[in-house]
Amino acid sequence: MPDRPTGRPDRRTFAIISHPDAGKTTLTEKLLLFGGAIHLAGEVKARGQNRRARSDWMKIEQQRGISVTSSVMTFEHEGVTFNLLDTPGHEDFSEDTYRTLTAVDSAVMVIDAAKGIEPQTRKLFEVCRIRNVPIITFVNKVDREGKEPFALLDEIADVLALDVAPMSWPIGMGGTFEGIYDFTQNKLNLPAKNDSGHYEGDQRGFSGLDDSKLDEVLSADGLAKFREEAGLATAAYPEFDSAAYLSGDLTPVYFGSALKEFGVAELIGALADHAPSPQPQPSAAGSVDPDTKAVSGFIFKVQANMNPQHRDRVAFMRLCSGRFKRGMKLLQPSTGKAIAVHSPILFFAQNRELADEAWPGDIIGIPNHGTLRVGDTLTEDEAIHYTGLPNFAPEILRRVLLVDPTKTKQLRKALDDMAEEGVTQVFHPEIGSQWIVGVVGQLQLDVLISRLDAEYKVDAKFEASPWDTARWIASDSEADLKAFIGTHRNAVAKDRDGAPVFMAKDLWELNYHEGRNPTIRFTATKERA
Ligand code: G4P
Repeated sequence: MPDRPTGRPDRRTFAIISHPDAGKTTLTEKLLLFGGAIHLAGEVKARGQNRRARSDWMKIEQQRGISVTSSVMTFEHEGVTFNLLDTPGHEDFSEDTYRTLTAVDSAVMVIDAAKGIEPQTRKLFEVCRIRNVPIITFVNKVDREGKEPFALLDEIADVLALDVAPMSWPIGMGGTFEGIYDFTQNKLNLPAKNDSGHYEGDQRGFSGLDDSKLDEVLSADGLAKFREEAGLATAAYPEFDSAAYLSGDLTPVYFGSALKEFGVAELIGALADHAPSPQPQPSAAGSVDPDTKAVSGFIFKVQANMNPQHRDRVAFMRLCSGRFKRGMKLLQPSTGKAIAVHSPILFFAQNRELADEAWPGDIIGIPNHGTLRVGDTLTEDEAIHYTGLPNFAPEILRRVLLVDPTKTKQLRKALDDMAEEGVTQVFHPEIGSQWIVGVVGQLQLDVLISRLDAEYKVDAKFEASPWDTARWIASDSEADLKAFIGTHRNAVAKDRDGAPVFMAKDLWELNYHEGRNPTIRFTATKERA
């Protein structure tokens, strides 16, 4: 039995996964609004725009209409603290997104009612599935014409191979939309706006679907259709089962409209009632319980230059155990050194605050000068070492061409910084002096060029490299590995930790070498030692 810290407050640490345009930003804003973290709708966007104006490289975000950075937002509702981790919504950033999803205990999947499951939703869902992250589904935009609820539920069930349990039901959609019925509480949410145009939530309780009072608030057609559908739905889909949800086998489905603030309160309620509180986290020596007394956590993200005025760098740590206090000294096993965390930051919607204390499930930002890296563990107990934050083999490799050769030092620093953030990977070939950058998607290259210019004043270009794919190489036989590197020196590079990487023209060539060198392991992911 672990030695428990007393009075650990509850947390819900979650992310929203969705395809661009499904309504993630709008929903985030409404969640923060309900949580009292912001006071006016529109502030998430306004805040984003301010930030953008200050930071040149984020022009890309504007131009391409996507969110490249991820951040953390904390809000409270009825005594529960929610930590919402924003995941970059673009497919090119799967590595960053994957890491962010390792830091949450559950996810909300937002689906556009007119579009159903879209490619990015599906990809992010697959990432959640790897770790059995429980998912609550929010079918958004029911105030507009959309697919039929049955079609949507069946699509979720079929495409994602997941049981679905409808928790609420829309009465009509688009022009015929009359409200949303909450099956769990037998409440009907009706559209009603106050004088300032904000939805106030006219919520009425009923004894059940047969309650005659429903006739007074719904149209005859709407009610008849709703009763029929609700009856069918109850028979066709399983009831909500907490254990199945927690193991990632079933998703409760809520219908709503983020824009009209429909179903948002129910969603917060669902997170508070059903979503898991901070879960044990996998470490090299078995999983670490949040009630373990020793303070420990892992870095899942590093962001450089959050404030362009002073080149700060913030490492985001998910706290996994113990009660963290400001000023605490924590061991960094990757370097064997202890670091004192004097200025930990907690993130609120509009502010960052110094954190005097934090608990498992909380995300704290640790300003540093490059000592902390993604995958690092920070801990009071040297036996704890978190796992599961891999680097992925890049899918695009490019040579870096410096336009002004006097800027070599700046280029090296810039590439190091951005490798640390996970924006790119950097490889140093055994032969030749040009660096190779590796990314998972084209967009990362655009971000890289733009940031090199804006933040480091380095004019660089990328040129095609002879290689298309890369694998980390290792072997139980040091002699075999050395011999392999010796014969393939022109295709071997070192990553920034000094680990050898083999670069191949294509998968065919890679397979060929794998076949011929059975004692060499070629791996597509690498975890930090
Ligand atoms: P994202 O972060 O997932 O990319 O989506 P975002 O919230 O930015 O929403 C995308 C568009 O969908 C926005 O419209 C937004 O207003 C709209 N939207 C979000 N939720 C709802 C909803 O419940 N009902 C309806 N009808 N629309 C919704 P836009 O015109 O692209 O942007 P804007 O000019 O309104 O900001």
